[in-house]
Amino acid sequence: MPRLPTPPIPKVLQPKPKRPGQNGNGNEHGSGKVSPAEAAQEAGVTVVDWIDERTSLSGGLRWLMFRKVPHGNWFYTLGSATLFAFLSQTITGVFLAMYYRPDATGGAYESMRYIVDDAFLGQFVRGMHKWGASVMVILIFLHMGRTFFFGAYKYPREMTWIIGVVLLILTLAMSFTGYLLPFDDRAYWATIVGVNINGTAPFLGPYISDFLRAGPEFGATTLSRFYAIHMLLVPGLIIALISVHLYLVAKLGITAPPWTKPDEEPELDVAEV
Ligand code: HEM
Repeated sequence: MPRLPTPPIPKVLQPKPKRPGQNGNGNEHGSGKVSPAEAAQEAGVTVVDWIDERTSLSGGLRWLMFRKVPHGNWFYTLGSATLFAFLSQTITGVFLAMYYRPDATGGAYESMRYIVDDAFLGQFVRGMHKWGASVMVILIFLHMGRTFFFGAYKYPREMTWIIGVVLLILTLAMSFTGYLLPFDDRAYWATIVGVNINGTAPFLGPYISDFLRAGPEFGATTLSRFYAIHMLLVPGLIIALISVHLYLVAKLGITAPPWTKPDEEPELDVAEV
């Protein structure tokens, strides 16, 4: 597949040419005095240069960030919106984990009550996490719909699609395992129903439900099992798969909108995805 050449760095990020009379410090007046703002800017540039000299990261970042993408269409923002929802879930989840106790003898419910009623901004953070889960599920379905209707699953992007399907399943697994954590009546009974539904899957069903319950019966370790899956296993997999997903998006480029005619050059913009 022909690849578009890497576009040049946008003008605003290119080093400015020196004006006549500008001295070596970048000071316009040639007075040798450097304003605090100029000094801060210079310090920032020096730090970036220092890191880049040792890591050569800037080439990779340029490859990832500055690419030609189809011009001005909101449908293309749904993947980034899903990514943003995931990041928001990660950050609010970290703060919730600072107070939550996966204790099935009453501690879990008590810790949730503490978060909502007493902890500073607890109700806000818990609300963000709870509603954010639904937002992420809605966004991921919309993003999947966009890629489907734009035919973005076809050659050469089949792997991007397959990884997307796994990401969808993992996102639903996050919702399922997170639902038990408040450990109130609704969480308990809804999870029993969910685990039983998993148990009806052909061949693997009984093994899946035993794995989820951490044994043949729903017990104290079931909560720890769900917490570990929700906090460590699934987020780890999601982070790894999003990285591969985005690598493939950067490598293969974005599908042009289906209404672009074959003989028409798509309108392209240098932008971040
Ligand atoms: C955590 C979940 C996901 C994240 C963070 C994510 C992120 C992204 C981003 C940022 C893009 C760039 C273009 C765009 O935004 O539309 C993209 C492209 C793509 N995604 Fe996802 N995605 C996710 C889930 C999915 C799912 C569930 C599918 C489908 C089953 C999917 C299939 C694709 C495909 C085929 C492309 C290439 C689009 C094209 O070339 O036009 N992704 N994804």
